Amino acid sequence: MQSFNKIIIPGGSGFLGQVLIKYFLGKGMEVVVLSRKPGMVNGNLKYVFWDGENLGDWAKELEGAKAVVNLAGRSVDCRYNEKNKKAIYDSRLNSTAVLGKVIANCKKPPEVWINAASATIYRHAEDRPMDEETGEIGTGFSVDVCKKWEALFNEIEVPGTRKVLMRLAMVFGKAGGVMVPFKNLVKFGLGGQQGKGTQYMSWLHENDFAEIISWMIQNESAIGIYNCSSPNPIPNKEFMNAFRLAFDQKIGVPATEWMVKFGVFLMRTEAELILKSRRVVPTRLLKDGYKFQFTKIKEALADLTD
Ligand SMILES: NC(=O)c1ccc[n+]([C@@H]2O[C@H](COP(=O)([O-])OP(=O)(O)OC[C@H]3O[C@@H](n4cnc5c(N)ncnc54)[C@H](OP(=O)(O)O)[C@@H]3O)[C@@H](O)[C@H]2O)c1
Repeated sequence: MQSFNKIIIPGGSGFLGQVLIKYFLGKGMEVVVLSRKPGMVNGNLKYVFWDGENLGDWAKELEGAKAVVNLAGRSVDCRYNEKNKKAIYDSRLNSTAVLGKVIANCKKPPEVWINAASATIYRHAEDRPMDEETGEIGTGFSVDVCKKWEALFNEIEVPGTRKVLMRLAMVFGKAGGVMVPFKNLVKFGLGGQQGKGTQYMSWLHENDFAEIISWMIQNESAIGIYNCSSPNPIPNKEFMNAFRLAFDQKIGVPATEWMVKFGVFLMRTEAELILKSRRVVPTRLLKDGYKFQFTKIKEALADLTD
């Protein structure tokens, strides 16, 4: 029987998964997380084992589910050495491929399959906004991951299931994700502009992230690629200024490009995460009628820091 109540979240143990779990449990829905660390059952929430690449018992959970929201993927917040690069590709491609196989073979396939992707697929853009129709695809390792991830998702045929791909911007929330490093920099007085400060930051409030997923599930005409970012990306200089105001921090030492590169080396991550200009806009979401709760970074941060 189709369970209009059941949402499956592969990779739901991470930051975005936790946002969705809270949201959907709050709506009285049943949530099944597919995780390499299973075991927990709590009311309407259940963690079921999968390894992110092979068929297993977990497959039966997808029968008759309302939606699958795939968030599985090794974090990109790391050094891009060969071992990490392979894990970044494999975790995204293998999980997407095996979900496709299972959904294609379901007797009662889920109504909708929403797969994570990333707004970093677009080129470094300071000159003009990038949207689904006129945006230009970039180059380099991260873009290549996104291209292969999307190509695989797009080529999978699941006739009984609607497919939606979300090109996600950085999601800011109260309990984790990218908010943590930004908050720490600002609190320690290091929240000045990063690099030239002219690179754009695309962002999304966690409430909008959850509402967008809910909208995608309910809106039967939502198919294909959606940029999931607030409509107002802003330059890094303004973005950091908004952060300092939100945390009432008067001091914000700027970081030149070499300082960013040195800092991220010490933190064992990559400068691209900070210095690449992501000027991404959600043209399709706006055109198709999604109403954002947070369109201004100042209001979003005021909400997240209260
Ligand atoms: N958060 C953002 O701002 C943002 C922005 C753009 C794109 N995205 C994309 O959205 C997705 C979810 O983001 P998130 O912030 O929630 O990430 P996260 O906190 O790192 O969680 C991702 C989950 O993926 C699973 N995972 C990790 N390595 C895996 C592997 N090798 N094989 C299978 N599963 C693996 C883990 O679950 P288990 O350990 O339980 O198996 C983990 O909890 C990611 O693909 C990310 O790239 C996120």
